Amino acid sequence: MQSDRLLLRGRLLTFNSEPQTPDDTSAFDYIEDGALLIEDGMILKRGTYCDVVAEAGCADIVDHRPNLLMAGFIDTHIHFPQVQIVASWGAQLLDWLNTYTFPEETRFASEDHAAAMACRFFDLLTNHGTTTAVAYCSVHKASAEAYFEEAEQRNMRMIGGKVLMDRNAPDGLRDTPQTGYDDTKALITKWHGKGRASYAITPRFAITSTPAQMEMAGALVAEHADCFVQTHLSENKNEIAYTLELYPEALDYLDVYQSYGLLSEKMLLGHSIHLEPREIDALAETGARPVFCPTSNLFLGSGLFDDAGLKARGITNAIATDIGAGTSYSMLQTLNEGYKILQLQDQKLHPFRAFHWITRGNAVALGMEDRIGTLDEGTEADIVVLNARATEAMALRMERAETLAEELFVLQMLGDDRSIDEVYVAGKAQKGKAPEIAAQAG
Ligand code: GUN
Ligand code: ZN
Repeated sequence: MQSDRLLLRGRLLTFNSEPQTPDDTSAFDYIEDGALLIEDGMILKRGTYCDVVAEAGCADIVDHRPNLLMAGFIDTHIHFPQVQIVASWGAQLLDWLNTYTFPEETRFASEDHAAAMACRFFDLLTNHGTTTAVAYCSVHKASAEAYFEEAEQRNMRMIGGKVLMDRNAPDGLRDTPQTGYDDTKALITKWHGKGRASYAITPRFAITSTPAQMEMAGALVAEHADCFVQTHLSENKNEIAYTLELYPEALDYLDVYQSYGLLSEKMLLGHSIHLEPREIDALAETGARPVFCPTSNLFLGSGLFDDAGLKARGITNAIATDIGAGTSYSMLQTLNEGYKILQLQDQKLHPFRAFHWITRGNAVALGMEDRIGTLDEGTEADIVVLNARATEAMALRMERAETLAEELFVLQMLGDDRSIDEVYVAGKAQKGKAPEIAAQAG
C-alpha cells in the first residue's frame, strides 16, 4: 500500500539569499546525499538522507541519485494564448502583434479551444520544470476561466489574468472599459486566493488601452491591492514613440501606468529595456518589478536588458520566457540567452545567481518566497529533478566538470526539457518517470 508520506532522495540545492559572487557559498544549502520528506503537498523536513529517513515513518522512498533536486522553476511572464504562434517569422514587436498574435488570440473566444490549449500549455510548463507561472490570458473571460480551471485540476500555484484591451486591436479582441472591469472583477472574486490561484490585473500595454480603460484598471488596483498587476513597458522603440503619441500628457512611458496608480511591489513590467532616468527612479521608489525576457528580446530584436544598471538602484528584476515572442518554455534556455545578453554588456550571470533567479529570486519578485522557490521546511513541495548528463553533449562535457558550479553552468547553457528528469507539483510526480518506489522507510 502506498503511504501518504513521500521521501525523495538525491543531491539537494536550495538558496536562502541571492549569491553576490560566483563563490558566495553562504547563499545556498547543498547536501550531497540529501532527502526531502513530503506530506500533504508540503515539505515537512529537509536534511541528510540519514537524518530524514530516521524520521520518515513508513514513507515511500524515491531515489533520484545522482540527480539534483531544486525548487520548481518560476516563469514570471508568459502568454498562454500564444502557444501556437511561437516561432512566427520576420517581424519586430508591433508588426508581430498585428500579423500573428492578435489574429491568434481571437480564437480564445471559444471555451473549447481555450480549454484544449490550457491542457497543452500546462503540460509544456511542467515538462520544462516550471511549476509556477504568471500568464497573460486573452481578452476573453473564457480564456482566464480555462487557465485557472486547468491549474486548479493540477493543483499548481499559478497567477494570471485576462488582458484588458479596448483599442488598436481587431474585432473580436477588444473589451470596453466597463466589460473589462466587470469581467476582471468577476474573475478576481471567483479565483483570487482560491486554492493556489492568484489574479493579476492585466492592462496589456498602453497602446491597447484608452485612458478610460487605464482609469478602470487603476480602480481595480485600488479595490484589490492584494492582486498582482502586469503589463509591458519599453520593449521596442516604435512602441515607445507610439505610446507617447497616444498619451501626450505623460512624462514618459512608465508615467502612463504611474499616473493611473498602477505601480507598486505587486507590479510586473515585462521587458523594461529602453528606460529614461526618471523611469528608473520611479521603479526604485515604487518597488515595481522589471521582467527580463531574454529569448523574446533577441527574437524580436527588441534590445538588451540592463540587469546590472537596475540592480545597482536596488530594483528587483524578475526573469521569464515571454512565450510566444520568447522561443523556449525552458527557464534553463532562458538563462542561456540571458547570459549572452549580459555578456554583450560586459555583465555576468554566474550559475549560482542564475539558479537562484529562476527559483527563489522570482519568488521574491512575487513576494512568495515563504511558499515557493526554495526547499525550505514548511513550503510547498514544487520540485524539479535535474539531470546534467541528459544529452550526449552534456554527458561528454560533464566528464570534465569538477565542481557544482560547473555542473550548474552546463545545465544553464546546454539544458532544456531533456534535463528535467521529474517534476513534483505539491508533492505529486508529473512526468511519471520517477524511479520505482525503492523501499519503505521505518
Ligand atoms: N506587448 C504587448 N503585447 C505583447 C505580447 O503579447 N508580447 C510581447 N512580447 N510584447 C507585447
Ligand atoms: Zn509579453
